[in-house]
Amino acid sequence: MAPVLAADAEIEITPRPDGPEISAHLYGQFIEHLGGVIYDGIWVGKNSKIPNVGGIRKQFIDDMARIGVPNFRWPGGCFADAYHWRDGIGDKRPRTYNYWQASAPDGVDVTETNNFGIHEFMHLCKLTGAEAYLAANMASGSPQEFHDWVAYCNAQVGTSSLADERAANGDKEPFGVKWWGVGNESWGCGGDMNPQEYAALYRRFVTQYPAYAPKPYLVAVGPRGHQKDMDLDWTKGFFDAMVGHRSPVDGLSIHYYTDFRNSAEKVAIFNASGWFDVIREGARIEDVINKHWALMEKYDPKHHTKLIVDEWGVWYKKGEEIAPNYLLSQPLTLRDAVHTAYSFDIFNRHAEKLAMTNVAQTVNCIHSLFLAEGDKFVRLPPYYVFEMYRGHMNARQAGIQIRCEDLKVPTTNGPSTMAGLSGSASTKGKTLAVTLTNPSLDSPRSVSVRLASGSITEGRGQVLTHEDMTKSNSFAHPNEVHLAPFTVNIRGDRAEISIPPRAVVALELKMS
Ligand code: AHR
Repeated sequence: MAPVLAADAEIEITPRPDGPEISAHLYGQFIEHLGGVIYDGIWVGKNSKIPNVGGIRKQFIDDMARIGVPNFRWPGGCFADAYHWRDGIGDKRPRTYNYWQASAPDGVDVTETNNFGIHEFMHLCKLTGAEAYLAANMASGSPQEFHDWVAYCNAQVGTSSLADERAANGDKEPFGVKWWGVGNESWGCGGDMNPQEYAALYRRFVTQYPAYAPKPYLVAVGPRGHQKDMDLDWTKGFFDAMVGHRSPVDGLSIHYYTDFRNSAEKVAIFNASGWFDVIREGARIEDVINKHWALMEKYDPKHHTKLIVDEWGVWYKKGEEIAPNYLLSQPLTLRDAVHTAYSFDIFNRHAEKLAMTNVAQTVNCIHSLFLAEGDKFVRLPPYYVFEMYRGHMNARQAGIQIRCEDLKVPTTNGPSTMAGLSGSASTKGKTLAVTLTNPSLDSPRSVSVRLASGSITEGRGQVLTHEDMTKSNSFAHPNEVHLAPFTVNIRGDRAEISIPPRAVVALELKMS
């Protein structure tokens, strides 16, 4: 037997066959009618020369299916609270206003064509194998408009005129939408309400929810978690106002942007401090999840209500969009892929608290997996992190203990320290998925991974890294940052690896 060598880091994994399941929905997506997300990013139109399936960009479908996309949240975002679903059905669709048109530069065509409506969205879900998560319009809509949308989506043909209308528009079978968001950011673009006002309106929206199958999962608007105080007052105010009422709240939405909108930080030109500032600010979401969860326990000791982080990602200031009309389209780098891995490790470790998360937003936007413009399409580094973490989807969360020296890091506010590695682990039968990130800019880490009891017998891995921390993929250089095979050595009962600096690794290990 080969000797076990001393490593920089020791990792002990405790499989828990009865542990919480890491829902596949923790790897969800968010797509909004905003800049180039829907129009061009996803919808190219049936007559386009760009390869498409019924108007939906084929490459987008293929790449989403490839990572096992579990869901799409749609149609917003802020757009949802100005969206009237009837505008997006039938042959004659009106041209309408889009909330985001106020941010569009002069000279940009800001018409919402409504070419992509509920049928097109549901076809996207079907083509990719995703579930639908719809956001209802609370701010400029009514409970009736919401309930009619539910009936249009979920009633059986012959039982309601709305279902017959859906069939006449091409879809006889009910869409079977389970996930419903009741409003979006109601403290801001979704109505500028206080939590008491929102709670009262929420109750009106859900009390007479039509009972078509499936049983709905109703998501209430929650806090802007990225605020310095984590917006705990919103959560408290909302649940205080719900005491004594019977309206169900299955999920509470949290929005957490790693918010660099008001800083000098740029997407692709940054130094070591910028690298660590973004990663550390992103990791603050763990505290946000814990604090809101603890607060919710006072109202709901059994935790019926779960958290839904339905918008997350790094948001840089304006100025680096791929084109003026592609609002918020950021050319993300390896740094944002590392941030993605940190976020997923946190979501995995808190799987019992989270029912869903949705990255904002999938294409041509803030924390995107792709950029697309006409016939050009490229995968950004975060895409590969979604691919690497697939092994955790629907797996059982395992305990993970990482013993590793802290890292001394530069930040904009001076030197600091942070944990030397991030990681999470899960099992499916005898297969163990372990994901680890080394944020160091210069030091590799030798790591020894073992089980609390039992042996690791086989292993393989993948790595995402680059010698230049600022690297991305572009239309001209689509494969600059890409996945590569990663060596796993089995010595004795454990796996030994060496993680390069600036790297995310995913291990698939077999347990005896
Ligand atoms: O994702 C972009 C915007 O960010 C969404 O429309 C809104 O909900 C949030 O403020």
